[in-house]
Amino acid sequence: MLGCFLGGGCCPLVCLLALLLPLVSLSHLNQHGPRSDGARDRPKLLLVSFDGFRWDYIDRVPTPNFHRIIYEGVTVERVESAYITKTFPNHYSLVTGLYAETHGIVANEMYDPALNRSFSMETDSIYESRWWEEAVPLWVTIQKAGGRSGAAMWPGSDVKIHGMFPNKYLPYNASVSFEARVERIIEWFSAPKDAAVDFGVLYWEEPDESGHNLGPQNSLMDVVIAGIDEKLGFLMNELKKAGLYEKVNLIVTSDHGMAQLSPDKIIELDEYVSRDLYTWVDKSPVVGILPKEGKFDEVYSKLADANPNMMVYKKEDIPEHFHYQHNIRIMPILIESKEGWTVVQNRTAPFMLGNHGYDNTLRSMQPVFVARGPAIRQNYVKTSMRSVDLYPLMCHILAIPPLPNNGSLSNVQDLLSLEPTPSTAPSIPPRANGYSYAPVVGSFIGVVMVLGFLMVYIRQVTLKQLPSLKHRSREMSQPLLQEDLHL
Ligand SMILES: *[C@@H]1O[C@H](CO)[C@@H](O)[C@H](O)[C@H]1NC(C)=O
Ligand SMILES: *[C@@H]1O[C@H](CO)[C@@H](O)[C@H](O)[C@H]1NC(C)=O
Ligand SMILES: *[C@@H]1O[C@H](CO)[C@@H](O)[C@H](O)[C@H]1NC(C)=O
Ligand SMILES: *[C@@H]1O[C@H](CO)[C@@H](O)[C@H](O)[C@H]1NC(C)=O
Ligand SMILES: [Zn+2]
Repeated sequence: MLGCFLGGGCCPLVCLLALLLPLVSLSHLNQHGPRSDGARDRPKLLLVSFDGFRWDYIDRVPTPNFHRIIYEGVTVERVESAYITKTFPNHYSLVTGLYAETHGIVANEMYDPALNRSFSMETDSIYESRWWEEAVPLWVTIQKAGGRSGAAMWPGSDVKIHGMFPNKYLPYNASVSFEARVERIIEWFSAPKDAAVDFGVLYWEEPDESGHNLGPQNSLMDVVIAGIDEKLGFLMNELKKAGLYEKVNLIVTSDHGMAQLSPDKIIELDEYVSRDLYTWVDKSPVVGILPKEGKFDEVYSKLADANPNMMVYKKEDIPEHFHYQHNIRIMPILIESKEGWTVVQNRTAPFMLGNHGYDNTLRSMQPVFVARGPAIRQNYVKTSMRSVDLYPLMCHILAIPPLPNNGSLSNVQDLLSLEPTPSTAPSIPPRANGYSYAPVVGSFIGVVMVLGFLMVYIRQVTLKQLPSLKHRSREMSQPLLQEDLHL
């Protein structure tokens, strides 16, 4: 407006510019001003784990819903889970980006010599915070950054970690149906602006349970896999009904795969060493051995070459690439069965036809990975990633700074959509006073721009070089545009 008055109302270009400038400062206000408070513009992400969903299940029976996500988004052919390929360690790796030795949930069943305490999936010990506090899960980090999170049965999400629960969560209860879990997640994402969650995690026990009982090769698994695809379809449909499908980035993966076992492939430790000499920690196929006081050498020498179907590692000799060594909760001796083998003390132990926990580089141990959404690239197949890379990817999508982790964004950057979208804005502005200057700065730049253009315009008119004005105005507006994108 200023330009119109000063320009005597005879220059449409200057007037247009003057009209546009307040819009520029308004857009600053929307993005960073106190009114929006970040909540409305925050990117949304839902991470789903179907426990034990092996990578190749999606091509074994028709799985139209998985394939729709791949068509609309991405898939990764080889995802290397963290070692050991068990449920609790890997679900914590997915939300921390850390190997088990660093996040501290080194197994489903653990013993901590410093605490003289045991952790077991089957007891309330999992609710003791100290087991979890060697790391900070993403739901805590996003809440500390001013965002909100919601969790439906994800391992560890109903435990107070570093003083916090997710804003919304369900206490673990295996009897709650998948559909009921989805309903709650949808409700949390659909809440009014300031109450809606930005990051959700959703866990389902299948097809792991059936995989253990039936064995992955069993043709009865086909029905189970088709059933999971239907459940995914239900989730997608509910997201659509709630108007969330195009807003929420959806990542569907798993904690590990599943290997076929056989009753002919059993290692009985009692044949080699007396059980009085050690404590057995965790379950087949990867077991921690804690020798009794002064019995290390005896136990190790009896086990070391006892059976060709198991590897027996001294803790310090566990292969580097497993990143499974530097934690007091990893026992002095580790037994790792070869693929398909079961290790027990004697045959009275319950036997399963499917299991996981083995070497994470085995194909059978690798999980499915598909994703779609505004931040995700379309119709793209990636060859490989490590599951710890998911954490920096999720932090990037959610626009929060990641904590130190073992993943790498550059390994998975190609999964992101190529066009910058609102949901891939580089970062949530700090909550501190910084942002409140943005509108002021924007307006100031606006006024300077108008005056600058006026001066240029007057000079141009005087010199009768009107054609070059257009060119100049483009140049001058460029820095402002760029600044807008980066903020
Ligand atoms: C560890 O705890 C058990 C009981 O759970 C107790 O019997 C044992 O003496 C404790 N060991 C040490 C070293 O404190
Ligand atoms: C677990 O969920 C089932 C099904 O909703 C319910 O009947 C049961 O009371 C719940 N158990 C606990 C301990 O809350
Ligand atoms: C096998 O182990 C169980 C405990 O796991 C024990 O009760 C049983 O006596 C053992 N059987 C033999 C033959 O040693
Ligand atoms: C994993 O990341 C943590 C945190 O940065 C670091 O302390 C640890 O050394 C890393 N582990 C490996 C194997 O690089
Ligand atoms: Zn699992």
